[in-house]
Amino acid sequence: MGNTVIIGTQWGDEGKGKVVDLLSEHADFVVRFQGGNNAGHTMVVNGKEIISHLIPSGIIQQKNCFIGNGVVVDPFVLLEEIDYLTENNIDASPEMLKISDRAHIIMPYHKRLDAAREEKKGDDKIGTTGRGIGPCYEDKATRRGIRFADLLDTDLLKEKIETNLEEKNFYLENYHQAETLDLQEVIDQVLEIKDRLIPYIADVSVILFDGITSGKKLLFEGAQGTHLDIEHGTYPFVTSSNVVAGNAACGSGVGPVNLNEIIGICKAYTTRVGAGPFPTELFDAIGDQIQKTGAEFGATTGRRRRCGWLDMVVLRNAARLNSLTGIALTKLDVLDDLDEIKICTGYEYKGKSINDFPAQISVLSQCTPVYETHPGWKQDTSGIRNYDDLPENTRKYIARIEELSNVKIKIVSVGPGREATIIREQIL
Ligand code: GDP
Ligand code: IMO
Ligand code: MG
Repeated sequence: MGNTVIIGTQWGDEGKGKVVDLLSEHADFVVRFQGGNNAGHTMVVNGKEIISHLIPSGIIQQKNCFIGNGVVVDPFVLLEEIDYLTENNIDASPEMLKISDRAHIIMPYHKRLDAAREEKKGDDKIGTTGRGIGPCYEDKATRRGIRFADLLDTDLLKEKIETNLEEKNFYLENYHQAETLDLQEVIDQVLEIKDRLIPYIADVSVILFDGITSGKKLLFEGAQGTHLDIEHGTYPFVTSSNVVAGNAACGSGVGPVNLNEIIGICKAYTTRVGAGPFPTELFDAIGDQIQKTGAEFGATTGRRRRCGWLDMVVLRNAARLNSLTGIALTKLDVLDDLDEIKICTGYEYKGKSINDFPAQISVLSQCTPVYETHPGWKQDTSGIRNYDDLPENTRKYIARIEELSNVKIKIVSVGPGREATIIREQIL
């Protein structure tokens, strides 16, 4: 109970948006702390689907939302999203949404660089979302990034764009043989939207601190998943930020003792978009069936998601890295029709068993999963709202995941809608 962090335990798209939307009812503030519009979080409310890429999913429940300093923000996408929400009668005005003055801005040249890098890599490409996320975080680390605070000083802003673009254009032209960008055009584009953005800028850390002091409850919305974390994931097939729960503190300017509950979102199976190792990936008819039943297409890029069995090496890794205090198990209904369901309990590598996630991609790529097989329940679970009404085999499957991960499954999700949820323990 208390301030709660929601993070993905796998490779993203676990259903974070649905759970954040659901839990937002009991929250006062909802905060994004990392990533950018590479995220695609889907909410289904009264049968209507809403996808958010940047603005915290808590906006649907009309809670005060914050984009923390750790997020990289494409301001053009942000304004589109604000307009999209407004058209759907959701208030995303500066009264409802604040953006950290320290958050970095994704500029048009970041997107151009993202695309050029991927093209040059050819078959070795990471399969990024092409949103300029990596190049923007690079500029942050090399200390030439442009932050929201810079929008408040037009002369400095122009100067920074000029310095950055001079270097980017040289690199685009000479290293990538890619099209360059026109300085005046970039400046004009940014100046055109600047005045709409300024009312949203705030010192988010200070507001969150005041909120905590006055007893407000905070909900932190992670993006991506633990195994896409830049340090703990399947490097280099990862995103460019720290995805793990600890970054909820750093990426929003809140001290770590304020993070009271850490809920890991875990699909009842596994999916991955983009390239990179995926030990339990299925290449057979069952994989296709899960992909179809689960409608596994990316919410951001529309790409078909790779599908496989639940991997406990992955989930245990996430439990340790994030200090999970609970799990929300999602998309359980997708497994309703299967005769048998497998759980990977560990890996085998060159005749040896491996229980911890290996750092070397070459090792991980050659790991074969060790499975245990569970009987399916062959029953529609999507209408069930009480835990005890779940079929016995479903409850056994859930109990086994709890046993293998040593974490309690506090929420079970059986459909995309907000209502299609079984709450076993109240959170927030
Ligand atoms: P996120 O990135 O973690 O927020 O997840 P996405 O929104 O990208 O992908 C999850 C998809 O599964 C979305 O289309 C959700 O509407 C859907 N979804 C979430 N929970 C469930 C569930 O329990 N059952 C089913 N069938 N779909 C779900
Ligand atoms: P949500 O929040 C799934 C993946 C991309 C690619 C890698 C790097 O919806 O779970 P990037 O554009 O970040 O440089 O791409 O990370 N990726 C995601 N996969 N869900 C996401 O977000 C993702 N965000 C990035 O497919 O493999
Ligand atoms: Mg997603």
